[in-house]
Amino acid sequence: MKIIKNPSTLSPDYIPDTVCAREDYIKFINGVIRKSDVPSTFVVRGNPGTGKTVLGKYLVQMNKEYRGVYVNCYVHSTDRSIVSEIIGKDNPRAYDFQNISSDRMYKVMFDIMPEKNNLIVLDEVHSLKKNQGQILYLLSRSRELGGPIIKLVILTMEEPELFLDKSTLSGLGKYNRISLKEYSYSELYEILSRRAEVAFYIGTFDKSAVERCAQLTEETGNARDAIELLKTSALLAEERDESLDEDVVVEAYNNFSPPIEDSSLINMEEDEIKLLRGLIEQTGSGTRFKSSDIKDLDPSMPDSRVYRFLRVLENSGFIKKNKIGKGYGGGVENEYSFRIPTLLLLERLTLVEDSISSRKKL
Ligand SMILES: Nc1ncnc2c1ncn2[C@@H]1O[C@H](COP(=O)(O)OP(=O)(O)OP(=O)(O)O)[C@@H](O)[C@H]1O
Ligand SMILES: [Mg+2]
Repeated sequence: MKIIKNPSTLSPDYIPDTVCAREDYIKFINGVIRKSDVPSTFVVRGNPGTGKTVLGKYLVQMNKEYRGVYVNCYVHSTDRSIVSEIIGKDNPRAYDFQNISSDRMYKVMFDIMPEKNNLIVLDEVHSLKKNQGQILYLLSRSRELGGPIIKLVILTMEEPELFLDKSTLSGLGKYNRISLKEYSYSELYEILSRRAEVAFYIGTFDKSAVERCAQLTEETGNARDAIELLKTSALLAEERDESLDEDVVVEAYNNFSPPIEDSSLINMEEDEIKLLRGLIEQTGSGTRFKSSDIKDLDPSMPDSRVYRFLRVLENSGFIKKNKIGKGYGGGVENEYSFRIPTLLLLERLTLVEDSISSRKKL
């Protein structure tokens, strides 16, 4: 049975007509963009799959009268490459771009922009390295530097404090931060049902299949995972020549195991792998732990090392921060929880440990 009518709507770069559960933020940012001529910057932080990219691209799309530019800073990670995206490849002034000084390059950028109605969305901004490059500084302070009025939207997985220097931070401002939470079951359900409506033929899928996809991805609250599961299930059902029901979803979920990025584990240092195993074993059947639990594993470990380890785990999508509680001496201590079943994580860890020890033997 043919289920998928519009494959492109299941691709991660598809921009849906409605960005569910983010309407208030979009309305607010859009209001500021359109209703005033003052420069403004928004910093939108969120874990993987919380809708950062879709929100940024949607804003560009809905502000057609603006000179809107979307740049992925993971792909374009140097000032030169970001500026050339902002200038636009078809711009006649882009021709000599590789050979001019940085100062000149920034000037060309400001010169080609209109005086106002500029919207720049920078995605994956956490990939920019501290003290390297000035582009955020310049764009957020363009007015002070004699440039045009720019509405800047910064999308990031990490708090800017972790990767930006003080001068740049101060230009970005403090009271313009938006934090996108992981999607709840009902939000995932809404995203998935709308997607299923545009992607699938009528009458080929069950409501229960959509509910099951939302339920199975609720733990991470990641819309990318949810849509991926929906797509994989539809493909499996098509192959079986069946309609898409919840049994197929469960089967797809079990066959194509949940997203543990093996690359994240492989890229971890050997001592981090060891720490992660210790942490999972210590946490036992529970999924929650505190930063002091890591310290308990190795009391001589400096705090900075503890936090670096936590950040590695967070960026890999293995854990999430829950809430802030009181730590030793009244200080702040974060509570975390595993976002993926720890048994599964242990299985993968064993594979990585085996490959480390066989590498050592060579
Ligand atoms: N609110 C939403 N409504 C409809 N679709 C959504 C929504 N949020 C996310 N999606 C869909 O989920 C997928 C992942 O979203 P998106 O790429 O925006 O997440 P992200 O926060 O940028 O993730 P990452 O940090 O991994 O880049 C995309 O296919 C997107 O279309
Ligand atoms: Mg993204």
